[in-house]
Amino acid sequence: MDFTQSVSSAVALLYNTYPFPPEPLLDAPPPGYNWRWHWPSAYSFCAGRLPQGRGVRILDAGCGTGVGTEYLVHLNPEAEVTGIDLSERAIATARERCRRSGAERAQFQQMSLYDADQLPQQYDWINCVGVLHHLPDPHRGIQALARQLAPGGIFHIFVYAAVGRWEIAQMQQAIALLQGERRGDYRDGVAVGRAIFASLPDDNRLKQREKTRWEMENSRDECFADMYVHPQEVDYTVDSLFELIDASGLEFVGFSNPAAWQVGRLLGGSPELMARAEQLEERDRYRLIERLDPEITHFEFFLVKPPFERETWTDAKLLTAIPERNPCMEGWPSRTLFDVNYQIVTLTEEEYNFIVACEAGNQTVGALLSTIPLTLEQVRSLQERQLVLLGF
Ligand SMILES: C[S@@+](CC[C@H](N)C(=O)[O-])C[C@H]1O[C@@H](n2cnc3c(N)ncnc32)[C@H](O)[C@@H]1O
Repeated sequence: MDFTQSVSSAVALLYNTYPFPPEPLLDAPPPGYNWRWHWPSAYSFCAGRLPQGRGVRILDAGCGTGVGTEYLVHLNPEAEVTGIDLSERAIATARERCRRSGAERAQFQQMSLYDADQLPQQYDWINCVGVLHHLPDPHRGIQALARQLAPGGIFHIFVYAAVGRWEIAQMQQAIALLQGERRGDYRDGVAVGRAIFASLPDDNRLKQREKTRWEMENSRDECFADMYVHPQEVDYTVDSLFELIDASGLEFVGFSNPAAWQVGRLLGGSPELMARAEQLEERDRYRLIERLDPEITHFEFFLVKPPFERETWTDAKLLTAIPERNPCMEGWPSRTLFDVNYQIVTLTEEEYNFIVACEAGNQTVGALLSTIPLTLEQVRSLQERQLVLLGF
């Protein structure tokens, strides 16, 4: 068995012991939404406009127990959804999860994403959350998936960041040292890890970080094991992240948690520093944010495969656009609601009336603005806040 195979076997054994994520199986569609799993929202984020069609082919690569896959099916009623994973037990749970909630459109296959070229087709959208950082060769993994992405397709990725996981990395190494020969026995690893935390003094930095940031999710052994006794994990820095992205041959669109990458949240108090920061080229600005914010625990972002055009909304074009209300909101119809990120927003009366009018369907921005006193800038702002999506 070569190195890649032996690591893959160890990873499969971890997830066969502790299938992840351990969310309960429901007899109904899962609650709420995540716009990153809603095709019109995800595509609009990348392209600035709605996609041509909704009957897309989606691949959930490293789907685990199918929590994301199930959302992908329910939030995209016309899509064809395939989940693949190395772990037999995770796949069995994913199948059962989707069967129970009525997400029968999902197809599952137990296979490595390295072998994605054995899949019978390309995909318009690939979702790969929490997986690439567990591969012995993430460059090979991202390249295998990039080949399966259709031209003009989008690719959503989530990987760990090193800076905010410093304490986790220390703890992983401590557990490994104490496990010695028993490394690879994941139940023993969880027991050792829990015993270490119980024994450390209360003011210990590793213990404090666990208490304040992770303890609640880690009450489940599946989560504790995923965090602390993983046989294979690479944590990324901005530099190594862009090496991975560059190796994919795809284009970086942006982080899918863009607020985290606004330098203003860190230096906004100083116009002089802001002016300097704005001079930096994009990747240096991200490096600066990474240096200044030790809380960054992950990177999530979209890549696209050329040819991929981003819409530029000139005033004339915007007047001909047809807006849709983004269904990823809760509390509608009301002027106060939860937006795509579950943040409370209060709409102005005109904004509210505009979105109500969108729902009648098939009316251009120009036609809507003939009765509702909004400016084009205000329509752009509704789009930037992902409250409406624009198409033709
Ligand atoms: C942390 S879980 C993430 C599950 C899911 N994507 C989510 O976010 O809920 C990582 C998953 O990646 C799978 N995995 C790891 N290496 C893989 C590979 N080479 N090919 C396919 N799946 C893999 C594991 O079996 C595990 O189920």
